[in-house]
Amino acid sequence: MKKIIKNGIIVTATDTYQADLLLENGKILAIGKIFSEQMAEVIDASGCYVFPGGIDPHTHLDMPFGGTVTKDDFESGTIAAAFGGTTTVIDFCITSKGEPLKNAIQTWHHKAKGKAVIDYGFHLMISEINDSVLKELPSVINNEGITSFKVFMAYKNVFQADDAMLFHTLVTAKELGALVMVHAENGDVIDYLTKKALNEGNTEPIYHALTRPPEAEGEATGRAAQLTGLANSQLYVVHVSCANAVEKIIEARSNGVDIWGETCPQYLVLDQTYLEKPNFEGAKYVWSPPLREKSNQNVLWNALKSGQLQTIGSDQCSFDFKGQKELGRSDFSKIPNGGPIIEDRMSILFSEGVQKGRISLNQFVDITSTRIAKLFGLFPKKGTISVGADADIVIFNPNIERVISAKTHHMAVDYNAFEGMKVTGEPISVLSKGHFVIQNKQFVGQAGNGQYLKRAKYGMLQQFEEKLLM
Ligand code: URP
Ligand code: ZN
Ligand code: ZN
Repeated sequence: MKKIIKNGIIVTATDTYQADLLLENGKILAIGKIFSEQMAEVIDASGCYVFPGGIDPHTHLDMPFGGTVTKDDFESGTIAAAFGGTTTVIDFCITSKGEPLKNAIQTWHHKAKGKAVIDYGFHLMISEINDSVLKELPSVINNEGITSFKVFMAYKNVFQADDAMLFHTLVTAKELGALVMVHAENGDVIDYLTKKALNEGNTEPIYHALTRPPEAEGEATGRAAQLTGLANSQLYVVHVSCANAVEKIIEARSNGVDIWGETCPQYLVLDQTYLEKPNFEGAKYVWSPPLREKSNQNVLWNALKSGQLQTIGSDQCSFDFKGQKELGRSDFSKIPNGGPIIEDRMSILFSEGVQKGRISLNQFVDITSTRIAKLFGLFPKKGTISVGADADIVIFNPNIERVISAKTHHMAVDYNAFEGMKVTGEPISVLSKGHFVIQNKQFVGQAGNGQYLKRAKYGMLQQFEEKLLM
């Protein structure tokens, strides 16, 4: 059955206007004044914005990490995402040395299939570069539609790659049409500082932040950017947390490097003092890079506003406080790194960003959806409201006030990192390919309705633009 969304204000990355939407067969069929309401379900969006569904480019669902497994899987994680206005997630497929890539990808398909309530894609973690990996990568891109590779410069002896591997990945990605994503922290320096802190008897959560200084992030970001320039490749820096890293991204871009930056809600609104909470509560705020001194928040907001950082990911990587974060009670380096953020990513950005005048409404859509779709090969199917696009739609009331709490959230974890924070603006209804997932704030979706997304190669859009200009 057709659906008509009436009386809402449509917001895209470039425009804000009043119009109705006609949805059919999972797509947007028409935009304008829809007169005939026969044989259609009419949805009244009066007083609401109508946004393209959010795209979360950075999630870790059902991921083994830190001696345990992230609490939210593809079912609870995508339900929570939908409540928050996100209709697509791109999750990191973790690989192991010696394991064929196709096996790792199959494992990730098994985790998601039959569980996801919204559409999803995968990035591929690169854990080694050798002949068999190089042989498999073209098929990863062309058959699986996985067109972004992740390299970790931190987590020594777990995920960490050396510079040779990063450089080889950058060169290969350029040849094949993939975007390289990097966790930029100097893992060797962090390893040294961590051992030193523990030797000196410093075991509390705050030492997680003190042993991962902003200089370690700035240095790694600058190094990755230089190597990208040298390889004439393309780089997306995930979870940028501090001024040191932003400076390196700006510098590299001004030198012509094809570099992009993502930050996360936690770095915009929380700070390092949260790790000092008593009774081991600081462990709830242990993720990497760590929360920074408050002065960094303005730098991140300004970088989003000026376009020097382009996207917001959640870095959803949730662990219960009880039984999981507690693994590090006597040693901060054993606290599983990560937090539950997928549900509140859009609300926080809207409330703290748009409502407080730090970014515009159109920038909000660009940062949470459109730019991500463009960078990761999903545009124009996802990331915008246009005829022919998937009918992934968020009907968002900008005036509702609510208080974030673990008592009301939909993630599977026992705490919320933003507990008690007041936000203004909330998704009322969320549609994925024309079907309600959230209707009047109730979950009405179904596990397994989310579809796997094969993504286009990096740079396809730029190629179209260049052709048109010729
Ligand atoms: O602490 C974090 N960020 N956990 C998830 C893994 C990563 O580094 O992105
Ligand atoms: Zn990371
Ligand atoms: Zn992450």
